Amino acid sequence: MEKIKRTFVIDLLKSADYGKNVCVKGWVRTKRGNKNVIFIAVNDGSTIKNIQIVADASKFDENLLKRITTGSSVCVCGVLVESQGGGQAVEIHAATIEIYGTADETYPLQKKGHSMEFLREIAHLRPRTNTFGAVFRIRHNMAFAIHKFFHERGFFYFHTPIITASDCEGAGQMFQVTTLDLKNIKKTSNGDVDFSEDFYGKPANLTVSGQLEGELAATALGLIYTFGPTFRAENSNTPRHLSEFWMIEPEMAFYEIDDNMQLAEDFIKYCIHWALDKCSDDIEFLCDMFDKELIDRLNFVIANDFVRLKYSEGIKILEDAVASGHKFEFPVYWGADLAAEHERFLVEQHFKRPVILTDYPKEIKSFYMKQNEDGKTVRAMDVLFPKTGEIIGGSQREENFEKLKKRAAEMNIPDKDIWWYMDTRRYGTVPHSGFGLGFERLILFVTGMANIRDVIPFPRTPKNAEF
Ligand code: 4AD
Ligand code: MG
Repeated sequence: MEKIKRTFVIDLLKSADYGKNVCVKGWVRTKRGNKNVIFIAVNDGSTIKNIQIVADASKFDENLLKRITTGSSVCVCGVLVESQGGGQAVEIHAATIEIYGTADETYPLQKKGHSMEFLREIAHLRPRTNTFGAVFRIRHNMAFAIHKFFHERGFFYFHTPIITASDCEGAGQMFQVTTLDLKNIKKTSNGDVDFSEDFYGKPANLTVSGQLEGELAATALGLIYTFGPTFRAENSNTPRHLSEFWMIEPEMAFYEIDDNMQLAEDFIKYCIHWALDKCSDDIEFLCDMFDKELIDRLNFVIANDFVRLKYSEGIKILEDAVASGHKFEFPVYWGADLAAEHERFLVEQHFKRPVILTDYPKEIKSFYMKQNEDGKTVRAMDVLFPKTGEIIGGSQREENFEKLKKRAAEMNIPDKDIWWYMDTRRYGTVPHSGFGLGFERLILFVTGMANIRDVIPFPRTPKNAEF
């Protein structure tokens, strides 16, 4: 048979071109059969579904058929046939089979049903499982939907630096970036590390957020968003924290807190809608396998308005719950930073839908948030989701130069670190707002996976940077 162009499995399965000569390339998931006929399930990553190859054993070299095992890679050409067996619409009756690479009995993905923990240890191979194929296809689709959402609304994708010499966000411990020889550190006369010898001539870190630079762009281009990796060196070993995660940070000139909330709600709903629409095979698989309520939960979020609630009202609800006997591990009082258990109570038990919590005490939020008239609270907003908890953090920004300067001083942020940020308030300042969506938190919600380590290809967590 002459060489034919390869077709993706996803297209073959939709095709009704029976009798056509086709060619498929992929990895063998299973092989079964008898001495007369062999059935090979091939997956090429384009879809969660496999295509069934039927090979007449008498037409092939016995040795070749033996070398086709789970995990091996093949090119199969043959005739597309309407399938007789149940479970699939079409199959290929093989005319030629070429093996690219064999996989012997040491291939770790021989059988189904490995634990998530085991699969994390073989994160280099886990994309070849149904589960991780589904998660990573959804992850791609979410990234695409995010760019589409913003592009359609006139936002510009703006690239903020990964390496930064400022830590004004206060979002947590930073990873230091240095080319100094750690075995031979030069000190200044007063005993400090001599950073003048370092690559940038001063201490530098990996960014925890692109927001501050994003604000520079929004106060020029109007509407911008960032989408890139961010790094936090905090020692959080939870199913919701990574030390390297991706964040989407839109920043909008002339937006006040209500506009900000509406954008966040529209944005998340758009992404979930996209996932249900474009990733239905993968989502149905994950729903069947891990989380029977997944699809209902996704539809529910799209169909219902998010609750808008002030922090003070939230505290009141939690205090009432405590008064009527509900036990929390952490204390509830005005001024406390909410723990995951408090957020989940509001979302899952009290309102039973996503909640946007606003107007937090200024002490537990960043210096740049717009100060309310009461002198106690700031115009912060956190979007809280069922199961996932906090998915978005954001705020209206303080645009008043004097107020911002005073708050920065109170929080011991040196002017030498933020003089450039302050310039946005010095020259043509405008009301503006923005937020950050944790990309992996979104993927957690959309896939129904239980652990954030299973929605990013190569998770980075304390004591873990393999692969
Ligand atoms: O609430 P955060 O710290 O907000 C900011 O960084 C602001 N500068 C955003 C802005 O206004 N432009 O982080 C934003 C979101 C959180 O709501 C959460 O979804 C996610 O980022 N996030 C993490 N995701 C995974 N692992 C971690 N360690 C995370 N820390 C925050
Ligand atoms: Mg936050």
